[in-house]
Amino acid sequence: AVGDHVSIVEVGPRDGLQNEKNTISLETKTSLIERLAKTGLSTIEAGAFVSPKWIPQMANSDQVLQHLLEPHDLPKHIKYQFLVPNSKGLESFLALYEKQAPKDHEPMEVSIFTAATESFAQKNTNCSIAESLTRFEPVFSTAKAHNIRVRAYISVALGCPYEGPDVDPKVVADLAVDLLQLGAEQISIGDTTGMGTAPKTRILLKTLAAAGVEMQDVALHLHDTYGQALVNAVVGAEAGVRVFDASVAGLGGCPYSPGATGNVPTEDMVYLFETLGLSTGVDLPALAEVGEWISRETGRSNESRVGKGTLAR
Ligand code: HMG
Ligand code: MG
Repeated sequence: AVGDHVSIVEVGPRDGLQNEKNTISLETKTSLIERLAKTGLSTIEAGAFVSPKWIPQMANSDQVLQHLLEPHDLPKHIKYQFLVPNSKGLESFLALYEKQAPKDHEPMEVSIFTAATESFAQKNTNCSIAESLTRFEPVFSTAKAHNIRVRAYISVALGCPYEGPDVDPKVVADLAVDLLQLGAEQISIGDTTGMGTAPKTRILLKTLAAAGVEMQDVALHLHDTYGQALVNAVVGAEAGVRVFDASVAGLGGCPYSPGATGNVPTEDMVYLFETLGLSTGVDLPALAEVGEWISRETGRSNESRVGKGTLAR
C-alpha cells in the first residue's frame, strides 16, 4: 500500500536559479538553502557541477557545497543533492565531499540527467540519448564505490520544445528501465515544457508501470507553463507516486527549453497535498516567507498563488 506522506524535492536553489540572467551571489544562494532547510523540507537540490560555459549561474556550486559541509545548526536529516552531467562533475563533487562529509548528517546525493528526445539531449548535454547512458556508466560505478545514491532525471517526458507535445511514453519507460538497471535509485520524470496533461500523465505512468517500473521509484518533476501541474500531480498521486519536485516561488525554467516557465511552486504543491490528506512535513507559512524573500532578492514576481494567498491572510 502506498503511504499518506509525500516527499518534496526542493529544486529552487539549482533548477530555479540556474536560469537567472543576473549573477546571484553566493550569500543569497546559501541563505536560500538555509531558509528552505528550516521549513521542514527533507530534500534540497543545492547546485550543479556542470560546465560553467553552459550554465554560468551554477559556477560556484563548489562554494555552496563547501558551505554546507561546514558545521551548521540546520536539521541533520536533510538530503542535499547536486546535479552532475558526467564523471568530471562527480569527481569535482567528491573532491570536496569525501574528505568532509559530516558523519552525523544524512548523506548527500547526486543527480544525472538525460532526455526523452534526441533534439533535447543534444541541446542540453551535447550528446545523443545513447551516448548519455554511456557517459553515465562511470558516474554510476564511481558513485557506487563511494556509497553515493544517484537520482536520474528524464527531461521532456511529456513534451519537447523542439519535437512537440507528443513524446513516445514507451521511449520514456525504456529509458527509465535502463537507468534503474544502471543503478539509479529514483527516476524523476520531467515535464520540462509543462505540456503534460492529465490524460498524457496517466498514460505515461501506466506505460512505466507496464515496463516494470515501480511507482515508489518514480518522482514527478512538473512545470506549470500551461497551468496543468497540480492536475498532473493529482494524477501522479492517484497512481501511487509519492515524490514530487518543486521550486519555491516557482523559480526557474530550463535554459534549453525556450518559453518554459518555472517549476511548479513548492508552496502550491504543499497546499495541494495537505488538502488531499497527504502530509508533506512542510510549514507552509514559513515556506511562503522564503518564496517572498527570494522573489525580492532576484527581482522576479512570486509565481506561487498559494504563497501570496498565504501571506495575505
Ligand atoms: P561538452 O562541451 O560536450 O563537454 O559539454 P566536453 O566534455 O567536450 O567539455 C567541454 C568543456 O567543459 C571543457 O572545458 C570541460 O573541461 C568542461 P574546456 O577544456 O573547454 O575549458 N566540462 C566541465 N566543467 C565543469 N564541470 C563539468 C564539466 N564537464 C565538462 N562537469 C556537458 C557537455 C554535459 C559538460 C555540458 O553540455 C553541460 O555542462 N551541460 C549542462 C546543461 C545543464 O546544466 N542544463 C540544465 C540542467 S538540466 C534541467 O534543468 C532539467 C531538469 O531540471 C529536469 C527538467 O525540468 O526537465 C533536470
Ligand atoms: Mg526543471
